[in-house]
Amino acid sequence: MKIVIASDHGGLRLKNEIALELARAGHAVDDLGTKTDASTDYPDFAHAVAKLVGGGSVARGILVCGTGIGMSIAANRHPGVRAVVCSDTYTARLSRDHNDSNILCIGERVVGPGLAWEIVSTWLAEPASTNERHVRRRTKIEL
Ligand code: RB5
Repeated sequence: MKIVIASDHGGLRLKNEIALELARAGHAVDDLGTKTDASTDYPDFAHAVAKLVGGGSVARGILVCGTGIGMSIAANRHPGVRAVVCSDTYTARLSRDHNDSNILCIGERVVGPGLAWEIVSTWLAEPASTNERHVRRRTKIEL
């Protein structure tokens, strides 16, 4: 699967580890940065990934910052984006099943690399439910 990924400085290490694991698992990873420890502004990276995912050119995106929160707030300003912050595998799975989430946001200061990879793997593997009630509710998300 093609996956676009990015982080600010607060998510750099975890973003690099996730990108490496994704490539090892056979995914095509497009890393939009950041590439150094220099302080950056998380919305710049959130908007870059959200434009691609919301615009339909890439199906899934992953954003990492200190908490995942700023990234998700900024990404969700884009039409077509359903970004979620997950710190556990249950919400990662349900965010796909019920909500068809297309951007996963993770906090480097919140979860360790082992759990982060479990969350990413779970999120990538889970299909979106085609149940009528879930499809209807998802349709109502867009304004
Ligand atoms: C950067 O210090 C930090 O604010 C950022 O990584 C993120 O946690 C924002 O939501």
